[in-house]
Amino acid sequence: MKILLLGSGGREHAFAWKITQSPLCEKLFILPGNAGTAQHGENVSHISVNDFEAIGQFCLQQEIALLVVGPEEPLVNGIYDFFTGSDSFRHIPVIGPSKNGALLEGSKAFSKQFMIKHGIPTAAYQEFTLATLEEGFDFIDEQIPPIVLKADGLAAGKGVLICETHEEAKNELRAMLEQNKFGNASNKVVIEQFLKGIEFSIFVLTDGKSYKILPHAKDYKRIGEGDTGLNTGGMGCISPVPFVSDALLKTVEETIIRPTIQGLKEDRIVYKGFIYIGLMQVGEQPYVIEYNCRMGDPETEIVFPRIKSDLLQHLIATGNETLAAEDIVTDSRAAATVIVASGGYPGDYAKGLEIQGLNTVDPNTIVFHAGTRQAGDKVLTNGGRVLAVTSYGENIQEAVSASNQAIEKYTSKANIIARI
Ligand code: AMP
Ligand code: GLY
Repeated sequence: MKILLLGSGGREHAFAWKITQSPLCEKLFILPGNAGTAQHGENVSHISVNDFEAIGQFCLQQEIALLVVGPEEPLVNGIYDFFTGSDSFRHIPVIGPSKNGALLEGSKAFSKQFMIKHGIPTAAYQEFTLATLEEGFDFIDEQIPPIVLKADGLAAGKGVLICETHEEAKNELRAMLEQNKFGNASNKVVIEQFLKGIEFSIFVLTDGKSYKILPHAKDYKRIGEGDTGLNTGGMGCISPVPFVSDALLKTVEETIIRPTIQGLKEDRIVYKGFIYIGLMQVGEQPYVIEYNCRMGDPETEIVFPRIKSDLLQHLIATGNETLAAEDIVTDSRAAATVIVASGGYPGDYAKGLEIQGLNTVDPNTIVFHAGTRQAGDKVLTNGGRVLAVTSYGENIQEAVSASNQAIEKYTSKANIIARI
C-alpha cells in the first residue's frame, strides 16, 4: 500500500525508517519530510501539514491507503475529523485521534477534567481565566511553592512555568491572562500542585477498543552535560528506564492506561492513534503530568528501534479496529539516542551548515535526521536539533557510549555541537 506520513522531525524519520521495513509498504510519501526521510520515500514539500484539503487531494492523486500523522498541530486542528467528515476522503484511515481526542494535549484544562472525571491520578489543580484573575491570586496564596502554571493551549512546549515564589507566580499569571504571554493559548491557565519525583514516559497505541503498550522511555530535556542548563525539546533519551520495574508498569496499566482508554470510550471520544503519557513517580505512585496525542520526539527514535514486529501492520490494524489481535514484539536490547544540536541551541543558532560523515556509521547505530535538508548532494542543518543518533547496547551505558562515539565523527567536522 501507499502511505502518507505528516511531519519533518527526527520522530518522522524514525516512522519512515520503521514503516518502510514492512513488506506491506509499497511507497511512502513524507510531507514535508527532511533529508533523512528522503532516504526512505518521497518528500512532499509544497503542501503545509495544516492544509487538509490539499493533503486530501494529494492522497486521492497518489492513491494513498493510510495517513499517519506525526506532529500534534494537525491533530489538534482536526485532520481526523476533516477526513472522516468528507465523502471524498473518508475511505483513507487516519492514524491519530479525532479533534476531541487531541484535546488531551491541546487543552490542559480538558485533560485535567478528563483525569479527575475518570479517577486517573494527577496533581490537584484549578483553572482560571481573566474573569477569575483575583481568585487565581487567592489560590496561589494557598499553595506552598514551587507553583506550577500551565497555559491551557499549545505553546510549542513552552507553556509550563514552575514558579519559586508566590510573587513570581502572580506576575506570571497576570502575564498569561492579561498580557497574553502565550497568545490565545494562555486565555485559560491551569494552576497545579508541584509533584516531586522522577519522570518517565509511556506510549500506548489504541484503536479505541483495545490498546497495546510500547517500550517506555525517559528523555533528558536540559541542554548541558549531566542534565544541567536550559530546557530544550529533548536532548537525549533512553529505553528501557532502569528504575521502571514490572510492578510499577503494572500500577501504571491499572491506574492510568486502562482508565484512560475506558474514559475515552465512555466519553465517546474517537481515538485511533498513539497516546504519550508523561508520568511522575512520587514514592511508589505514578501520576500523569501530561498527555500528548502523538509519539514523542526524540522518544520515537528509541521506542521504534526497540519494536521488532511490523509497525505498519499494527497501524493498519489500528485503522481497522483489530489491534487486539496484534502482537507487539520488543527487542530486549537497550537503546539510547543522543541529539546533535546546532551551536547556540536552544537560543539562536545558524542554519544551512553542511553535515559530513553521515555514511560512516557502525551497524549498531542509526542516525535519524531531525533538522536537516537536502541541497543537491549535500545535507545541510535546518533546525536547532539536527540529528538523533540512536544506538543499541546490552545496557543503557553501552548504548549511550556507542552514540557518543558515532557523534564524534560529526562534531570533529566542526560547525555542529553535540551535547546530551
Ligand atoms: P508538560 O508540558 O505538562 O509536560 O510540562 C513540562 C515539564 O514541567 C514536565 O516535563 C515536568 O518536568 C514539569 N511539570 C509539569 N507539571 C508538573 C507538576 N505538577 N509538578 C512538577 N513538575 C511538573
Ligand atoms: N520529548 C517530548 C515531547 O515529544 O513532547
